[in-house]
Amino acid sequence: MSPKIAIVYYSTYGHLATLARAEAAGITTAGGTADLYQLPETLPPDILTKMSAPPKDTTIPTLTSGAQLEAYDGFLLGVPTRYGSMPAQWKTFWDSMGGEWQKGAFWGKYAGVFVGSGSQGGGQEVTVMGMLSTLVHHGALFVPLGYKTVFGTLTDLSEARGGSPWGAGTFAPSEMELSLAREQGKMFYEHLARVKFD
Ligand SMILES: Cc1cc2nc3c(=O)[nH]c(=O)nc-3n(C[C@H](O)[C@H](O)[C@H](O)COP(=O)(O)O)c2cc1C
Repeated sequence: MSPKIAIVYYSTYGHLATLARAEAAGITTAGGTADLYQLPETLPPDILTKMSAPPKDTTIPTLTSGAQLEAYDGFLLGVPTRYGSMPAQWKTFWDSMGGEWQKGAFWGKYAGVFVGSGSQGGGQEVTVMGMLSTLVHHGALFVPLGYKTVFGTLTDLSEARGGSPWGAGTFAPSEMELSLAREQGKMFYEHLARVKFD
């Protein structure tokens, strides 16, 4: 049976939303499917206006509880950097999942992370590391992007780009960054497709 994968992201300006769709496209090329979700906004509308944040993509469902994720075998999580760690929208969501944590609802499930930042050295890798602590406490198994199929892209220094062996990443989605996201989705699906789920 095909693994059930959810792609969950938070995005203020749309970059992580674009990467999320590229991750989904990668899963599709590998023969799978994924459900896309966005996290609820926690900032008040007037602050979002001052930040020049565009309206959310209302075609993507907004998760209302962690319980909605319990049916999935794996998750690709989209996280824009805030001061080198996850944004409050992600932390608020995790902090609402004490019930799932207590009963081990995500124990043994798989997770990969993709990220975004406004600058090089702005915290992409350390943002993934910060997510690891939460994933470990939930008992989830981290699936990195690694170098196996993306060595050429990760070692190509011809242009500035986000992403690392920790996972795809973006400054502002370029074709190179999108290719890493597609590859992450594809490899994540192929990895999970080898696993026997109950
Ligand atoms: C409050 C705040 C803090 C941020 N901190 C950082 C940072 O430490 N380093 C960095 O490179 N970018 C930082 N950024 C830029 C965001 O990471 C970037 O705008 C975001 O990843 C874009 O993704 P999105 O379009 O999906 O919202 C910050 C942005 C905001 C609003």
